[in-house]
Amino acid sequence: MRSIIGLDEFRSARRSLFGTVGLVPTMGYLHEGHLSLIRRAKAECESVILTIFVNPTQFGANEDLSKYPRDLERDLALIAPLGVDLVWMPTAEEMYPAGYQTWVEVEALTKGLEGAMRPSHFKGVTTIVAKLFNAAQAQKAYFGQKDAQQAAVIRQMVRDLNFPLEVVVCPIVREADGLALSSRNKYLEGADRSAAVVLFRALSAAQELYEAGERDAEKLRMRVKAVLETEPRAQLQYVSCADFETLEELELVKGKTLLSIAVFIGKTRLIDNFILG
Ligand code: PAF
Repeated sequence: MRSIIGLDEFRSARRSLFGTVGLVPTMGYLHEGHLSLIRRAKAECESVILTIFVNPTQFGANEDLSKYPRDLERDLALIAPLGVDLVWMPTAEEMYPAGYQTWVEVEALTKGLEGAMRPSHFKGVTTIVAKLFNAAQAQKAYFGQKDAQQAAVIRQMVRDLNFPLEVVVCPIVREADGLALSSRNKYLEGADRSAAVVLFRALSAAQELYEAGERDAEKLRMRVKAVLETEPRAQLQYVSCADFETLEELELVKGKTLLSIAVFIGKTRLIDNFILG
């Protein structure tokens, strides 16, 4: 495993990789969810590139970039046994040099859900992901289903900009009690940690209703809300029952559907989702 910081060195190391190349973009502070992406890439590709970059442009003015958890030494130790070929950890100065002014923006898909709560977030995500795609020249790129809207937005960008690459979206990895793994779970302490399981309970309750035959999207959203209201530490930001591809809110659930939520548990903002149908 070779760790690289500079873009030129990364490009020349990339040229020495053979076969199908899989790219796993991350912001570090790795957990089992990231490791599952690396294992999948390793199983499907001859060579694997991991990137670790806490991308400043996807953080809003009110979101504390400096507080985003980082532990590079731990990250490198965690991935050491997994057979990653290259780890690229670019600097913000090289990714966004003085005078930087080019952005990649996906339109309609980024307006709702996370995009409505975090207005400039996806512009930062698509811009950095496009830059990583350009530099890595991978044939496959791996993302987690936990960030469901991000996955949909990146699929759209790949289609629209004709990136010659397949986007592979891997299932959410959960703790034993159902809490979806996230680097932000680190902020959940004491009672907040046990309260956080309410996201999984709320989505599961709506899924049960769906499996019992309910197709009225509002009734599914109401079921999620009702369960969340049983937890005093939980503050719902949004619940959505939307078409899986367009992310448009549904009245009636027909095909593949994304049931997604954003909830504050104390001061920690968590997102989670289930796929129905
Ligand atoms: O999902 C993430 O960790 C980030 O949004 C990504 C895709 C690495 C871009 O910075």
